[in-house]
Amino acid sequence: MKVGLLGSGDVAKVLASGFLKHGHDVMMGTRTPAKLTEWKTQHSQGKVGSFADSAKFAELIVLAVKGTAAAEVLLGAGSTHLDGKPVIDATNPIAEAPPTNGVLNFFTHLDESLMERLQSEFPRAHFVKAFNSVGSALMVNPRFKEGRPTMFICGNDETAKRMVSGVLDQFGWETADMGKVEAARAIEPLCMLWCIPGFLRQEWSHAFKLLK
Ligand SMILES: NC(=O)c1ccc[n+]([C@@H]2O[C@H](COP(=O)([O-])OP(=O)(O)OC[C@H]3O[C@@H](n4cnc5c(N)ncnc54)[C@H](OP(=O)(O)O)[C@@H]3O)[C@@H](O)[C@H]2O)c1
Repeated sequence: MKVGLLGSGDVAKVLASGFLKHGHDVMMGTRTPAKLTEWKTQHSQGKVGSFADSAKFAELIVLAVKGTAAAEVLLGAGSTHLDGKPVIDATNPIAEAPPTNGVLNFFTHLDESLMERLQSEFPRAHFVKAFNSVGSALMVNPRFKEGRPTMFICGNDETAKRMVSGVLDQFGWETADMGKVEAARAIEPLCMLWCIPGFLRQEWSHAFKLLK
């Protein structure tokens, strides 16, 4: 698959490396290609361009930018380049404020998620929430003695979710599909829960598993 990543931070770099490892074509998109010089040296087959270059290139888009900039980045990518495409949304709506006793502050509220905002602003893109509830170091083929961890996903388009489930399977996750876009109201705050042991006790090496 041709995968276009929007972002140059840890999440974008880790996922881009994971897609390359699993045989996909990758282009990373950023305003500042210089940020990716080292990554490019280590991954000569990966491409780097603007947000628009990356979205245009992509069959599958991965949104991995600061939550506060997500809508602006998608606008910059060009809505025509998003039309009809699956968009993995790894972002979280983290506010520009320090955590309170280890609990991150969000700029959304419980009855409205960031992904719902993005889905209504870009109605022809097929957003699928994924990879937002685990640290970047564990996103690609994490190893736990308990087996595969669970990635909670949601989104309105069944075909896009099937494609993302396939990616998650390659990346060593089991998928728990929580339904339509509104489920992002529950999945985005998992990021708060995941980060608490880190902020309180420097524990960052866990992941969620749904037991049935
Ligand atoms: N870090 C993690 O372990 C982790 C885990 C799960 C989910 N997440 C979520 O994943 C997303 C990416 O996280 P990250 O830690 O990799 O990186 P980050 O530092 O949150 O974001 C960096 C990216 O945001 C873009 N950006 C920032 N301000 C911008 C603006 N005003 N206009 C346009 N673009 C802007 C940057 O663009 P340029 O490339 O142009 O500089 C860069 O690509 C976040 O939403 C985060 O909450 C992070």
